[in-house]
Amino acid sequence: MPATRRPIRQLPDELISQIAAGEVVERPASVVRELVDNALDAGATQVTVRLQSGGVRLISVEDDGQGILREELPIAFRRHATSKIGNLHDLESVATMGFRGEALAAINSIADCAILSRANGFAEAFLLDGRTGELRPVARSVGTTVEVKELFYSTPARRKFLKTDATELAHCIEAVRRHALARPDVSFAIWHEGKLVEQWRRCTDLDPVIALDQRLGDVLGQEFLTQSMRVQTIASDNNLRPRIWGRVGIPDAARTRADQQFAYVNGRFVRDKVLAHAARSAYEDVLHGHRQPVYALYLAMDPARVDVNVHPTKIEVRFRDSREVHQGVRHAVEDALAKPRSAGLEVAAQLDSAPLNNGFSVEVRQPQSVPMYSAQPGIGLVSKPEYRFGMQPDMPGHKVSDVGAIWQRETAPVADPIPQEEWPLGRAVAQLQGIYILAENTQGLVVVDMHAAHERIVYERLKNQLNSITGAGAHPRTIVSQPLLIPVTFAATPDEVATAEVHSETLVTLGLVISPFSPRTLAVRAVPNSLVQGDAVSLARSVLAELGQHDASTVIERAQNELLSTMACHGAVRANRRLTLEEMNGLLRQMEETERSDQCNHGRPTWRQISIKELDALFLRGR
Ligand SMILES: Nc1ncnc2c1ncn2[C@@H]1O[C@H](COP(=O)(O)OP(=O)(O)O)[C@@H](O)[C@H]1O
Ligand SMILES: [Mg+2]
Repeated sequence: MPATRRPIRQLPDELISQIAAGEVVERPASVVRELVDNALDAGATQVTVRLQSGGVRLISVEDDGQGILREELPIAFRRHATSKIGNLHDLESVATMGFRGEALAAINSIADCAILSRANGFAEAFLLDGRTGELRPVARSVGTTVEVKELFYSTPARRKFLKTDATELAHCIEAVRRHALARPDVSFAIWHEGKLVEQWRRCTDLDPVIALDQRLGDVLGQEFLTQSMRVQTIASDNNLRPRIWGRVGIPDAARTRADQQFAYVNGRFVRDKVLAHAARSAYEDVLHGHRQPVYALYLAMDPARVDVNVHPTKIEVRFRDSREVHQGVRHAVEDALAKPRSAGLEVAAQLDSAPLNNGFSVEVRQPQSVPMYSAQPGIGLVSKPEYRFGMQPDMPGHKVSDVGAIWQRETAPVADPIPQEEWPLGRAVAQLQGIYILAENTQGLVVVDMHAAHERIVYERLKNQLNSITGAGAHPRTIVSQPLLIPVTFAATPDEVATAEVHSETLVTLGLVISPFSPRTLAVRAVPNSLVQGDAVSLARSVLAELGQHDASTVIERAQNELLSTMACHGAVRANRRLTLEEMNGLLRQMEETERSDQCNHGRPTWRQISIKELDALFLRGR
């Protein structure tokens, strides 16, 4: 509830000329949006929207806000009359939804309008007929109802442009939805033709995070909650940077259309290119192709740092410092997405996996002889690092002891071991078709695409090595490389030889030493230590092919992630490689610790949970 009641006044001419001019009422939903804006500005805790014929015949918005004084009712219908701003300074730091003083006047000019209101602290309510100007007492509790009948009755040409009632109703509901997502502390109800079509009850929980989650679940569905990560930035001390919070969908929840992207600036729903671009770019590394992420993002910032007076419908804003906003949003979303869900930090109550494929048949046998997995630090998790010098081809049925180094950790072996029941990705039990790892956790079965998962782990490791500045920034950033005792040579094209020479420095940065052996032969002398497992020649060839397309000086800045992703693909464990349980478990534990490990480098999921409930359903158990 606003602390003080401000009088409704006609804006001075010089201020009117500053306000973005234009049409506000296009269709019933525009009226709904404006009227709900007004209800919220009046401090309402309950907003009821009643509609007939998709809002064309009737829109009534009722609130329990502070109401309008009897003598001010006629002023409210005048153009450029508002209680929300009074001078240029106010216009430059608008904190309310409305400020133009035009909505009621505009609506009254194209429809049959009435306002019923009882002001807070007064015993009587009054009705003002917008057409006749007649004012009479009525019975009403404190608050305001605005009734709008027969939209565009005097402009049939515009009425013709309206779509079916069902479509207009859908737009009206969407308008209320956008408000509802911004205000978990307010109850909303929508009635159509006397039937309740939507109702979202206010959440009285004092914790805003809980309140928001409840509202997001009510409005967007529980699935949105289980399929999203929480975004939260710490308030900045200088108040210059925006505070950002909300929820962002996991890459798996992305859609073909951008229809679940909600962005708010100081409580106002906006469609803003800076915000949309920042959010999309945060998904760059985990969501490929044209899929659209889902999110509800909220920014709070000093109102003086954002101009809301850009567009008559107030759906666009202009930031004083859009770079800062872009960076803030991008980082906040990236941080939220980086946490692997498998880390168990935010494993949703029931992580619904994709519907089970009917042809899914898994033979999981757990013979007695399966060695129990050791929870001792450093024991059993990974085989002893066993660096082999030189390359070994990937072969089906490759001897398991040879792949010991694959998941060798670069840092300490294992931090605090947690009891095995608590490993989010569980304990490996089998390998399927040389492609999948099957593991058992408390919820049931975990299926991991081992190549996809390992590729992400290697990629993140390469990125970390390249980005971490050792010392006080004195050393050049390079990927840790591993010299090969016996260099691997291969017949190279003249292009490849030239590229190896031109880009030799970049190659070293990437952990690769490739030098001419003869005019037509290149020798690979060192490879990144996390890639010793792969085929050095195919690694060298594809990196040279990519480098060949770039200018030597800028390639690292411009194509770093693509290069590393290519390298990771070569270094990742191939299909058909038999793994020991220790190695499988080593991979699972690394996934739990690696950022973005829920998706491979191409944005596909790396693991799925199949719950006992789903397995029971497959076997018609418990029916
Ligand atoms: N539901 C309401 N409750 C209280 N006051 C209202 C309500 N709707 C409108 N008003 C008053 O009428 C004025 C004009 O409303 P409007 O034309 O929407 O312009 P604006 O919202 O830009 O000020 C508002 O400034 C406000 O003082
Ligand atoms: Mg308004």
